[in-house]
Amino acid sequence: KKTDNHILVIFGASGDLTERKLIPAVFNLHCRGFLPDNFAVVGVSRSAFTDEAYREKVVFENEHLKDVGGNGDRAKFAKRIYYHAMQTNNPADYPIFRDRLKQISLECETGDNCIFYLSTPPSLYEVIPRSLAEVGLHREQDGWKRLIIEKPFGYNLETAIDLNQKLLQYFSESQLYRIDHYLGKETVQNLLITRFGNSIFEPIWNRNYIHHIEVTAAETVGVEKRGGYYDGSGAMRDMVQNHLLQLVALVAMEPPVQATETSIRNERMKLFQSLRALSEDDVVNNVIRGQYTQSKIKGESVPGYREEEGVATESRTETYFAMKFFIDNWRWSGVPFYIRTGKRLPTRVSEIVIHFKPTPHHLFSKGNGLPNTENILVIRIQPNEGILLKFAMKIPGAGLQATDVNMDFHYSDLNDAYIPEAYERLLLDCIQGDATLYARGDAVEAAWEFVDPILKVWESNPDIKIYGYPAGTWGPEHADDLLEGDNITWRYPC
Ligand code: BG6
Repeated sequence: KKTDNHILVIFGASGDLTERKLIPAVFNLHCRGFLPDNFAVVGVSRSAFTDEAYREKVVFENEHLKDVGGNGDRAKFAKRIYYHAMQTNNPADYPIFRDRLKQISLECETGDNCIFYLSTPPSLYEVIPRSLAEVGLHREQDGWKRLIIEKPFGYNLETAIDLNQKLLQYFSESQLYRIDHYLGKETVQNLLITRFGNSIFEPIWNRNYIHHIEVTAAETVGVEKRGGYYDGSGAMRDMVQNHLLQLVALVAMEPPVQATETSIRNERMKLFQSLRALSEDDVVNNVIRGQYTQSKIKGESVPGYREEEGVATESRTETYFAMKFFIDNWRWSGVPFYIRTGKRLPTRVSEIVIHFKPTPHHLFSKGNGLPNTENILVIRIQPNEGILLKFAMKIPGAGLQATDVNMDFHYSDLNDAYIPEAYERLLLDCIQGDATLYARGDAVEAAWEFVDPILKVWESNPDIKIYGYPAGTWGPEHADDLLEGDNITWRYPC
C-alpha cells in the first residue's frame, strides 16, 4: 500500500499513552522501514518543552523504546520529532500552530498530509477538531487530513451521537479514525483468517454445533495511576463497550463479501445491531458487577479499589464485569455468550473460547463416569498468543475410554515472525488510509445502544448489588451463578 509523506501531530504529547505506546509505535515503524522518506512527528500539549527537551523525554530517556529492526538510530529518529506548546482548548492559539506546522512541513519536505491524533481527555474532543477546522487544517485540497480519536468515544449513547455529529460538522466520515487498540492486535485480526480462511470451521460455526461462547479479558493490574479517570468510567465503559464488543463482533459476524474496509465494517455493524437488548430483569439476573477489595497477593498487601488514589471512598464503580447475553439472528439464535473482564484478577489473559456441543449420543466414558468432553477451541489473544483445539482421544490399551488432548499452535513457534504492537499496525493503517480496523461512527453508536440501557438500570437502581472480591481472585463468586444454571463453568486459564 502507498505510504505518503506526512506529519503526525499528537495532541496530549506529554501524556502517558504518547510515551508508552505512540512514540514507540512510530519508532518501530521507522526501524522496520515502513515510514516514508519524509515524515515528522509534532507533539502538542500545554507543558513547556523545547524540541530538544521533548526529544530527550520521548526518545532518549524513553524506556519503552526498543530497537526492533535494522535502523535503531535514535539520534536520526529524534530529528524528526518536534514539539509545540499551546493551550489546545483556546482557538486563538491555532493560527500560530498552523504556521508552525507549515514551517515544519517545509523543513522536512513532508507536504500537506497530516494526521491529528487526539490523545487528550475527551473534554477536548470537540474543541480541537473545531479549532483545526477554523484555521483550515481540515481541508484536503493540498494533502489529506485524518483525525484519530482515542477512546472513550462518548460517555453514553447520547454523548457518542453528539460527538459524532460535532466531528462531522468539520471532518467527513472518511477522515475519522476512531481507535480501538484491540482491533490492532495480531491475534484479533487472525480471527478473520481462522474463520474465513479455513474451510473446516465456518460450516460448524453456528447454533447447530456451538453450545456457548466465552470471552475473557483479565488483568492483574489495578487502576494504577488512573483512579481519577477510571472511577468515572468503570469496566463497562473502559473495556466492554469497546474492546470486548469488538471481539464479539469478530467472532460472531457473518462472512464479509470481500476483505475490504466497507464489507468488514458492515458485518461488524450488523452484528452490533443483532445484540439482544437486556431488560431490567436481565440486568439484575445476567449481569454481575464487582469491585476489588484489599488483599494479599504473593505475601504483599494490595489496596482495595476504594483505597486507590483518585477513587471516591464510597465508589460504586465496577472493576469487574460479567454478563450473559444473546445474539438475535439465524446463526446464533439460542446460543448464550458469556463475557467477563476485570482488574486485579489472578492472571493476565485475554481469550475467546468456543464450546462445541457434545456428541449427540455418548458412546464412550472418560473413565470417571462422565461422557467424553465437548470439543473446545481456545483463541488466545494475549499473552502466549495462539490457538488450541481440545478433542477426545482413546486412552491407549484395553477398553474404549476417551481422554482430552490438545492440538496447539503458538505464535512463538513462528521463528522469524515479528508481531507488531497494536498501535504500530493501526498507525500504519491510518497513514495508508485504511480504516478497516477502526470503528465506524454508526457502529460505535450501535455498541452504545446495547450498553446504554444497562448503565441506565444501574443508575436508577442503587439496590442492584456490586460485589466485593479480594484482589488477586477471579472476581465475585456470583459470576459463577451466571453459568451454573446452564450446567457449565468458566474456563480458568493460567
Ligand atoms: C485500555 C483500558 O483501553 O485497555 C485499560 O483503558 C486496560 O484500563 C487496557 O488496562 C488493556 O489493554 P491491553 O492491550 O493491555 O489488553
